[in-house]
Amino acid sequence: MKTYRIGVLPGDGVGPEIIREGMKVLEEACKKESVKCEFTNYDFGAERYLKTNEVLPDSALDEFKKLDAIYLGAVGDPRVRPGLLEKELLLRIRFTLDQYINLRPCVLYPGIWTPLKDKTFNEIDFVVIRENTEGLYCGIGGVFKKGTKDETTTQIELNTYKGVERCIRYAFEYTKKRNKRKKLTMVDKSNVLTYGHDLWLRVFDQVGADFSEVQKDHAYVDAACMWMVKNPEWFDVIVTNNMFGDIITDLGAMVQGGLGVAAGGNINPNGVSMFEPIHGSAPKYTGKNVINPIATIAAGAMMMETLGETKVSERIDHSIRALLSSGKVKSMDAGKMGFSTSEIGDLVTKGI
Ligand code: IPM
Ligand code: MN
Repeated sequence: MKTYRIGVLPGDGVGPEIIREGMKVLEEACKKESVKCEFTNYDFGAERYLKTNEVLPDSALDEFKKLDAIYLGAVGDPRVRPGLLEKELLLRIRFTLDQYINLRPCVLYPGIWTPLKDKTFNEIDFVVIRENTEGLYCGIGGVFKKGTKDETTTQIELNTYKGVERCIRYAFEYTKKRNKRKKLTMVDKSNVLTYGHDLWLRVFDQVGADFSEVQKDHAYVDAACMWMVKNPEWFDVIVTNNMFGDIITDLGAMVQGGLGVAAGGNINPNGVSMFEPIHGSAPKYTGKNVINPIATIAAGAMMMETLGETKVSERIDHSIRALLSSGKVKSMDAGKMGFSTSEIGDLVTKGI
């Protein structure tokens, strides 16, 4: 039987509750397709950091490199200085495993309420490809005369030819393979960021020359935000840098009905990828069994799709769609679903 070694990082806050449901669904879907996920649990996160003062030892990263994929709940805890776990755990894994693509679909499931309520699920179905290892996230910069009235800081946006090229090439290949509208929109701010984003423009043209079947489109990030709400049906695949990708996928999450349904993948096409819901650790809901596990379950489907198990992934996707279009689940928001976290997990598992 084909077996995948999956590292599981439930993380902080509601992470363990949503990951538990995701694993339940994965186990059932894999069983039906005669494949196996062998889960190894890692307790990295706030609790362990507070006890041991250690966030993520190098030895763990070495172990991760031997896995087939990583399934991540959520990172962040109010007891830990903001930014510490984000940087030392989440970004460290993304960067060290060179997960240079952050793949974030924005899809309206049938039966889901969205603020764009006159749009149907056929009109909200696009994917954001976010560069995931460069840009403003490199932490390059400095501070001078800190704490004084003369304090001066710099935070540099790094754009390398290699980093931009591999991201844009992945995006063109993905658009071609996805085979929907075959349209790739590059989102940038090249009218202002005339060095870095000029590089993106040139590489987009250059790589685009190899993909005559893909329609090339361009939008400045501010206009893109407007169109994501006004005319989401215009988009098929969006490619953008790390910072803009972070921002527009929170907007995308709302367009698709809320953070409760938005999933993401941190992808190294030649290495170990990591899958997670886009939402955070939601500390105020911890332990209450009220958070929506759909985003995490959908991230599990993305994981199986990326591993090449399309049938397992389709089973999960169909079950989510069937449940949501049944109208049984009242809302996508925590505490308002009409079901608990584990009940939603059970319903999706039953529909596999
Ligand atoms: C996300 C998150 C992270 C990011 C944070 C937690 C560092 O917002 O995955 O979108 O900015 O990438
Ligand atoms: Mn974000």
